[in-house]
Amino acid sequence: MDILIKGNTKLSGEVEISSAKNSILPILAASILSSEPVTIHKVPLIKDVFIIAEILETLGLQLEWKQQDITISGLAFSTHPPFDLVRQIRASFLLMGPLLAKYGKARIAFPGGCAIGHRPIDLHLKGLQRLGASIHLTAGDVMATAQRLYGAHIYLDYPSVGATENLIMAASIAEGTSYIENAAREPEIVDLANFINAMGGKISGAGTGLITIEGVKKLSGVEYQAIPDRIEAGTYMVAVAATSGNALIKNVIPEHVKAVSAKLMETGAVIEEEKNQLWVQGSQEVQPVYIKTLPYPGFPTDMQAQMMAYLSRGKGSSIISESVFENRFMHVPELKRMGAKIRIEGRTSVIEGKSRLTGTTVKASDLRAGAALVIAGMMADGITMVKDHQHVERGYENLAQKLNLMGAEIHYRDSPGQAL
Ligand code: EPZ
Repeated sequence: MDILIKGNTKLSGEVEISSAKNSILPILAASILSSEPVTIHKVPLIKDVFIIAEILETLGLQLEWKQQDITISGLAFSTHPPFDLVRQIRASFLLMGPLLAKYGKARIAFPGGCAIGHRPIDLHLKGLQRLGASIHLTAGDVMATAQRLYGAHIYLDYPSVGATENLIMAASIAEGTSYIENAAREPEIVDLANFINAMGGKISGAGTGLITIEGVKKLSGVEYQAIPDRIEAGTYMVAVAATSGNALIKNVIPEHVKAVSAKLMETGAVIEEEKNQLWVQGSQEVQPVYIKTLPYPGFPTDMQAQMMAYLSRGKGSSIISESVFENRFMHVPELKRMGAKIRIEGRTSVIEGKSRLTGTTVKASDLRAGAALVIAGMMADGITMVKDHQHVERGYENLAQKLNLMGAEIHYRDSPGQAL
């Protein structure tokens, strides 16, 4: 699916942020742990959510949608999700912990790498083994079995978000208490812990490097709403600054986007925070900055591409160092096609700035790279076509519609729309 973006946009007005994709995905997986129906409210209607929901249904769970509320109930009759669904989304590996804990076994295809790197699962598997699972790799699948899971002390070599989530879910109904050291601290981890505690779990320390999980016998039903999507919010914040716009971002937790706000203010943008919304005012002149992506609360890797598009019009050279993934500069060649002056040196990019972007045809390689190209298209002179925009749709609810309400002119190529 391709979209066309008219350049020289100045975003204004307001935008409402949806529930966090990276909370909803593990929360959907964790619903497997409950012995009663679970309802999640205001679920973003995006492809990643639909794929995980479909996987749950193929396992035998009943799913009922009411607008954006989804109720999950029943038991799984299978613990081996189909490959054609699993291969579409790395987050399907988050089903491993809950299936193993609830049913004593799980068989899930090794998650493929994706555009941003090979993304192994060694930390997930090491942690599950510490909890008592036996793990076999066979024919491209990970097979895990465990009569019972027992509380354990787990040290994560790296604060992996997914590994932390899988292990929290597995340990939540294990026998005894587990400790995860060097755990990921992302807000989505806290959200998952709050969700499991709302079902009767006993998790403490989420959001810090040491998470304690006291296993309980059963988890009951619950109604829950996830936190706002801090990466969606950050993307709109950067888009407003990049187009020298002025707009209100509603339904955001300012604390969760602190690193992005701080960097945007360093470039000269003005950010005014209120309780659950914030104003962004872009500046004509963009000061260059140095950014290093880090696990939360550091600058988020999921915001790196979007910032790079913005910094292409900086007054001088900015530097972005990508410490989380080993190959997350797929957007650089596309931005260069639009006139950005960027050179990659290992895991660091130098963005020379002072460039006026020109619209052309570019290709989205992954979700956040695609978002960066949409921002660049709004900044550029002329019209930009972003090919493979479906990557963006999988993680941003109604992106084109939300931006058009803020003054952008974005149309799907194969749908009638006035000439741009
Ligand atoms: C989550 O991915 C997010 N996805 C990613 O967002 C995000 O970029 C990432 O965390 C980092 O914040 C979801 O939450 C669904 P990791 P995840 O495990 O869990 C290495 C987006 O755009 N690693 O923290 O896969 C890994 O190779 C997506 O919404 C191991 O070495 O991230 C990577 O270099 C993209 N062994 C680093 O850790 C392991 O067992 C971070 O991975 C696991 C990870």
